Amino acid sequence: MDAAETSKAKIVSLIQDMEKSWDDELLQMVQSLPKEEAWVSGLSLYLYQGFWCSPLVIKPIISFQTHFPTFDSDVIIATFPKCGTTWLKALAFSTLYRNHFAMDEHPLLTFTPHQLVRFLEIDVYLKNPCPDLENICVYKPRVFATHVPYASLPTSMKDSHCKIVYICRNPMDMFISLWLFNDKLRQERELLSVDEAFEKFCHGICGFGPFFDHVLGYWKASQENPNKILFLKYEDIKEDISSRLKQLAMFLGVPFTEDEEKQGVVEEIAKICSFEKLKELEVNKKGTHVTGIPHKEFFRKGEVGDWSNYLTPSMVERLEKLIHEKMDNSGLTFKLSSKT
Ligand code: A3P
Repeated sequence: MDAAETSKAKIVSLIQDMEKSWDDELLQMVQSLPKEEAWVSGLSLYLYQGFWCSPLVIKPIISFQTHFPTFDSDVIIATFPKCGTTWLKALAFSTLYRNHFAMDEHPLLTFTPHQLVRFLEIDVYLKNPCPDLENICVYKPRVFATHVPYASLPTSMKDSHCKIVYICRNPMDMFISLWLFNDKLRQERELLSVDEAFEKFCHGICGFGPFFDHVLGYWKASQENPNKILFLKYEDIKEDISSRLKQLAMFLGVPFTEDEEKQGVVEEIAKICSFEKLKELEVNKKGTHVTGIPHKEFFRKGEVGDWSNYLTPSMVERLEKLIHEKMDNSGLTFKLSSKT
């Protein structure tokens, strides 16, 4: 088995270990949940609190929901998988802590974005229901990440003055990115064809799905409380990263000064966080995340509109209809290509 195979096997054994760690109460609760086959054969998803979860994360999510003490100063990066989490982690980290290090000693040169901004349910609480949060974040304010939908965030997080930054992406690119990501991680297991996975996706079935409920949950919360939740779109950052970085810095309470802008700090941050730069760093080419996912799999193509190489016209038509139906009256729109 080569290194990549070993890391894939690790995900499956992590799930098995996790299931073995469930006590009777949790086992009974999980057994009472609606269950579906995941996109990869032999793996399941459970509908917990209205969203689909891998058995890997149910227990960590409950620990996170029960025990996470939110500080008003905390920053939370919230995303749906494959919508630009890695990028936003790098951007938020680099913006918040820009005065803590010189660019040539930037932590992104030696750590992956997922090591610098750790997921709560997929990392911090993965194996420990009460982790030592004191020493997890080197810099202050603390920054964490989550894929948990807004409605299921811990009450302490919703009630505090913490800041939440959400990134969404058009569902066509997100879907293809997720399908190809699953293909990389499936080991010898079968992956549903793109048509079959698409069918599941349209019914909301994928980790942390339904996609539209996730996006709309954060969208509505951001409309109601714009000082607490900043809602960003992958495509907008691609189109004008400087404006979005300034917006992010302002929201986080660390606006760029005139001097910084003159010195090109915004452009420097954009550059070090760029897909091209991160993908080529040794730290992102080797090794694996705590879940066993090889770091390199978080960097594929990083484009807007790559879906057009995979989706058939009838799939596009169906998803366009679904977008229309789900987003109707929400005021939220998706940019499907870099040309429009
Ligand atoms: P593609 O599969 O379309 O290339 P996440 O970080 O939420 O898992 O999302 C992964 C997607 O973001 C992948 O999309 C990946 O290539 C892209 N991505 C990763 N780093 C990026 C960066 N610095 N800039 C733009 N896109 C990035």
